Amino acid sequence: MNEGIDENKRNFLKLMVTASIVAGAGLSLGVVVRALAPPALGVSSFPNLQLVDSSGNPILASNLAVNNPSAMQFNYPLQNTPNNIVNLGDASGKPINVPATQVTIPADGTTYESYAGVGKNGSIVAFSGICQHLGCIFPELRFYPNGVESITLQGKTYTGVFHCLCHGSTYDPTAGAAVLTGPTTHPLPMVKLVWDSTTDELYVSNMVGPTIYGRASDLTGESPISGTTTEVTNLRNPFTV
Ligand code: FES
Repeated sequence: MNEGIDENKRNFLKLMVTASIVAGAGLSLGVVVRALAPPALGVSSFPNLQLVDSSGNPILASNLAVNNPSAMQFNYPLQNTPNNIVNLGDASGKPINVPATQVTIPADGTTYESYAGVGKNGSIVAFSGICQHLGCIFPELRFYPNGVESITLQGKTYTGVFHCLCHGSTYDPTAGAAVLTGPTTHPLPMVKLVWDSTTDELYVSNMVGPTIYGRASDLTGESPISGTTTEVTNLRNPFTV
């Protein structure tokens, strides 16, 4: 029993010594807690990054196949933040010129202007690869190219869309990834692509639309991408040959 009392006394004395050190150093408990917490993840503004392949070579706009069923994905604006870049075409494979357009967020009725497509045909666009409903990613959320893949929902067939197999949300990439079918109530956030017409190279520099699913803001929650490039990976669509 005496050993138990001694142990309690020792713990109490340790607590008093720690408290006196903290007080002696003029530190508040909040300062100590903040010093021990890991640093917040994120960046202060949208970075300007070049799209490159796995060897670090620039992605050329003219090399992005129209209506490619594979997912061409890159992280932006932070690590572990996938986006899909697509070259939109009609059913015959002719590139579709994508104008900037007003997009409505069904959740609250607010609107914003999407970015126009880039490349020599104005047909290349990029959107978040994270579904705005509950966060599913490729291959559940993927592009259904015109004339290659389609999905029929309640008797209506959709093609040339992003569709999420998790619960059925569908987005229109020719109209800023506006919501075509729920349950999502938010469009896919759009990435601003910048095309250098003299080199055919592509850059990413901003985003517009709702906040990326699962984030307090687009610029927090993951580590920054180091350097001035972000790699485009080619993920094969398991539902097409
Ligand atoms: S997570 Fe995509 S529809 Fe639910």
